[in-house]
Amino acid sequence: MHILGINAYHGNSSAALVSDGRLVAAVEEERFNRVKYAAGFPSAAIHYCLEVAGIKLSEVTHVAIPRNPWARIGTKLLYAMRMPGFARERAKVLAKFTGIPEALAQAFDVDPKQIPAKFHRVEHHQAHLASTFFVSPFEEAALLSADGLGDFASTMWGVGRGNRMEISGSIAFPHSLGMYYTAVSQYLGFRKFGDEFKVMGLAAYGEPAYLDEFRKIVRTNGGVGFRLGLEYFKHHRTGPEMSWRDADKTPELGAMYSDFMEERLGPSRDPAAPVEKIHRDGAASLQARLEEVLFEMLRGLHKETKQKAVCLAGGVAFNCVANGKIYDQTPFEQIYLQPASGDAGLAIGAAYFVHHQTLGQPRSFVMDHAYWGPSYSKEQVRDAVNSSRLQAEGMQISELPEEMMAKEAAREIAAGKILGWFQGRAEWGPRALGNRSIVADPRRADMKDILNARIKHREMFRPFAPSVLAEFTGEYFEKTYPSPFMTQAYAVHPAKRDVIPAPTHVDGTGRLQTVTEQANPRYWRLIREFANLTGVPVVLNTSFNDNEPIVCRPQEAIDCFLRTKMDVLVLGDTLVRKSSSAEVQR
Ligand SMILES: [Fe+2]
Repeated sequence: MHILGINAYHGNSSAALVSDGRLVAAVEEERFNRVKYAAGFPSAAIHYCLEVAGIKLSEVTHVAIPRNPWARIGTKLLYAMRMPGFARERAKVLAKFTGIPEALAQAFDVDPKQIPAKFHRVEHHQAHLASTFFVSPFEEAALLSADGLGDFASTMWGVGRGNRMEISGSIAFPHSLGMYYTAVSQYLGFRKFGDEFKVMGLAAYGEPAYLDEFRKIVRTNGGVGFRLGLEYFKHHRTGPEMSWRDADKTPELGAMYSDFMEERLGPSRDPAAPVEKIHRDGAASLQARLEEVLFEMLRGLHKETKQKAVCLAGGVAFNCVANGKIYDQTPFEQIYLQPASGDAGLAIGAAYFVHHQTLGQPRSFVMDHAYWGPSYSKEQVRDAVNSSRLQAEGMQISELPEEMMAKEAAREIAAGKILGWFQGRAEWGPRALGNRSIVADPRRADMKDILNARIKHREMFRPFAPSVLAEFTGEYFEKTYPSPFMTQAYAVHPAKRDVIPAPTHVDGTGRLQTVTEQANPRYWRLIREFANLTGVPVVLNTSFNDNEPIVCRPQEAIDCFLRTKMDVLVLGDTLVRKSSSAEVQR
């Protein structure tokens, strides 16, 4: 039985294939069409998933779509009457959704009538919850999905047992923690889709000086729920102005904060203006209030479910700073998130919802690694190298066996070189986890500035992340619970902060990836070789890209290597060094 999950016409469009209960492939469309957060229809991602399984479209038994137009129809109609423009926009989207079988047929150049698969609709947040619980290692767990808006809800919670989920509550538009975070990020001058990550990084530089005011912006009552102080917002009056239906551009959002927010907190920051103390403190207050609300909800959820473990999903679950504090702030002892907590994850969520909840199949799969995307053969890597400008530009190119490659690459990192590390299947989700990574020496305090100046060109307040050999987690961090997908930030032991200054954030935390030999033997070996040379079982890991989606094909890795001031590139078994003449002066 093959179940194809499709997240289409929504941010982070993606596809996933589940065959007889096992995940075969999962990938975001942006990796193929090279448009960050691309929406639209994920044709290339679907083609890829079927290719990995070696099946034709006619062999797909079920298609799962994480959207149910009938969900909360009463609330939708109410808003449709108040906001005709918003209703018109939604009607257009709905028309696209009903045309998914046709879009699928078009992508494969067949007649829609020739698709034998049964189509299923899964409500947005139920797909989020399924995306985490059904691939988690837990037989039972409390479940929480929190994000911006999907099927007119922002939040949903419940409990999962075996192959069933029971929903016990949800929060409908316009009350949304995701929109709260987005609106205040916009107010602080971070207006692009996905900028919330930047604001989370900035928060560590400020003090939550406006927390009292922020408690009016999001209000709680001691239970699982919350309400927004709507006077601070305008999305409930204008509708969230979104233009994220097209595959060829990054989604955009209209301003969601109101004049009242500016009256209370002062004028909003122009994106071109400098970031000052008031903005740092605003970011810190935003983050502090999000944490308060999230922990209050999780404590309520624990009371309700009495579970030890919690599975999280939705865009808010990307808040690694909050996630890392759950152990101390709530009674939950175990946490699971799969790497694509945001809307890309809906593709696997919808597929697993159909597999378990709809078809009643037993659980048989745990997602314990993130490598579900495209890989390229030795020949394909060779072809990419040979047809590139690498040789013409005087690069030194050699092929090395795996063990020697790890040693050689580790030596380069320890010598202060910046390494592009491209191996195996691409990561699922927005984090590079050792297959499409840029790796550097974490011991050098200046490495963050060097990386920013030479490759990443990011704001100075955004941290870089550490990858640590899992067996040494407790030696370097104050928590040891595994974080294989970089979804949690833990405090670095005070004694180790000077040992790994580059990926230690200003607040003393690191958004770590715990690396096991089982999950990624090549990356594990690279870090072990680095530890053998330096005594430090940690490397700095950042995504292999430069203001673009993470590289997917070897050609993109080579382009990024040539375009930026990276020193060394490893593509599978091929090592490329910029020769001394081509090497860039630091
Ligand atoms: Fe969502």
